[in-house]
Amino acid sequence: MDHAGRVGFERKNQIISDVSIDPDVNKRWFKRLYPLIREQRTSFLITSFCGIAGLTIQVSVPMVIREAIDNPLTKGSGKISSYAWVLVAMAVAAFLLRYTYRFLLFRSAYRIETQLRSLIYKHLTKLSFSFFDRIASGEVISRANSDIRSIQLLLAFGPLAMLSLLSFFLALIFMLSIHPPLTFVTISCMPFVYFLAQKMRDKVFPLSWVTQGRMADLAMVVDENINGSRIVKSFAAEKKQIELLAKMAQRLRWSSTSLIDSRARFNPLIEALPRLGMASVLMYGGWLSINEKISIGALIAFSSYVIIISVPFRMLGFVLLQAQRAAASSLRIFEILDEEPAISNKPSASKITSPLGSLSFRNVSFSYPNGNNPLILEDFNLEVAAGETVALVGRTGCGKSTIARLLPRFYDVTSGSILLDGTDIRDLLVEDLRTHINVIPDEPFLFSESIRNNIAFAYPNAKEEEVFAAAKAAQADDFIKDLNLGYEEVVGERGYTLSGGQRQRIVIARTLLANPKILVLDDSTSSIDVETEFLIHASLKKLLQDRTTLVIAHRLSTIALADRVVLIDSGKVKAEGTHDYLLANSPEYESILASGVMSETE
Ligand SMILES: Nc1ncnc2c1ncn2[C@@H]1O[C@H](COP(=O)(O)OP(=O)(O)O)[C@@H](O)[C@H]1O
Ligand SMILES: [Mg+2]
Repeated sequence: MDHAGRVGFERKNQIISDVSIDPDVNKRWFKRLYPLIREQRTSFLITSFCGIAGLTIQVSVPMVIREAIDNPLTKGSGKISSYAWVLVAMAVAAFLLRYTYRFLLFRSAYRIETQLRSLIYKHLTKLSFSFFDRIASGEVISRANSDIRSIQLLLAFGPLAMLSLLSFFLALIFMLSIHPPLTFVTISCMPFVYFLAQKMRDKVFPLSWVTQGRMADLAMVVDENINGSRIVKSFAAEKKQIELLAKMAQRLRWSSTSLIDSRARFNPLIEALPRLGMASVLMYGGWLSINEKISIGALIAFSSYVIIISVPFRMLGFVLLQAQRAAASSLRIFEILDEEPAISNKPSASKITSPLGSLSFRNVSFSYPNGNNPLILEDFNLEVAAGETVALVGRTGCGKSTIARLLPRFYDVTSGSILLDGTDIRDLLVEDLRTHINVIPDEPFLFSESIRNNIAFAYPNAKEEEVFAAAKAAQADDFIKDLNLGYEEVVGERGYTLSGGQRQRIVIARTLLANPKILVLDDSTSSIDVETEFLIHASLKKLLQDRTTLVIAHRLSTIALADRVVLIDSGKVKAEGTHDYLLANSPEYESILASGVMSETE
């Protein structure tokens, strides 16, 4: 196999490659998956070879038994032990072949599954915020899990079903060569096997669908209760939540039980049918044998074939159904993979080498994409000089966070433009833009990893001393050293083992290490109490040095960090100036500050 030019891991047998699905949306789903399947073609080729060889041996076994019974046993010609040895050899060969093809087949199917997963993940990281606004994360997770699984199932069982269908035709030829009427009697119960298997699926499939959905519902409730345990507890809502969970569990139990009920009814029936066929083979074949129309060996061979040929009839319906599910699943997956990132680099996009950091918003209007959202910003104009610190102040919902999201191009402006050092940010490389512009959100997000890794997140090659220096500058070094494992301490999910102020200081250290030229603090200090804010004031000051900074705040202490204050109202700049100037000249500014102070003392 050609491994050149691929990025991947897992020894030499790379799993992750650059190959993607066929981008042509007009092709049928299977054709679109074909590039992924083609990558595994060597495996599939060996699988088919081993599979066909294996099933030929398997289907020939009853023929050898026939010979063994008819020759040494009945006529006394030849040695029975040589037949026994042939059977042993066939068993060994069949085992090796079956092992090889099953292993290779499932390995290829799992590889394609992994490949699809990583394709989806890679694509999700490219997609813009507008996509995540539109699609619930649970939906994406379900597509990445169960839909990929259903394609994987088809890829593994489809070829198996084809092989077993082939074994049916082979057995048919063998049987026809012995006695056509008896062949007809032998296969006569197969349509019933197919019919029953089909009937079972009609019943089982909707039930398993419901069961799966209920399992997902239950998982969601458990997940919300664990993640939201603080809220559940603070409202003393445990009892209500336990009842809700019990109700969901009850519903799951009901559908699981009905599922097992129909399986238990049909499965023994389907297994019993071929034995019924065996009885008719014994009746008719026995009569033929007594009248010396066929040999005893042939009779025994036929009774083995009844069992062998029932397998494809049981499998066929399942695989047809799986193919339908895989088709539906692949459409859902393609929907994600075909989604063009709303924000991408222009072919002519230029690199940002060393930005000075001046910003200008020129007649910016913006409404959130997807549907008819109202204009949040309308003819918004603002100039920020390089190195300046500007505070954005305004009522909740006036669009301050939206301004923060436009700078790193989480969304693009609807009209107007934003310039960095005089260049429209849409003409710059997005990666560069996001490296140089950093937004610290109000709720600091930490990964469930060591504090060191959290600080070095944007700069994984940072030296030990650099991480320590950043933590010191962020006034985080002291409390980190007091932790049991220090920098190696793993913070709980989203850092809940730390206080808000501690988390925020780690985020500040992370940002210091990333060293962006432009920084936006979006209400970053609002979740910190006043004392802690006082404590980290020095680290904040340090953070603002030599940077262009927008601080979104309503606290005097944070606003005091700024050179200039801009008051925003109805998507426009209402007033601007120093804090003292605004306080004296803008009654609105005063009232917003007053409400901010009030919410602080509450
Ligand atoms: N992803 C979104 N999709 C649609 N509307 C949004 C989205 N995010 C925010 N909004 C709306 O935009 C307006 C401004 O929100 P925001 O910028 O967060 O305000 P602020 O930070 O000033 O409190 C609000 O009315 C809010 O409902
Ligand atoms: Mg906000």
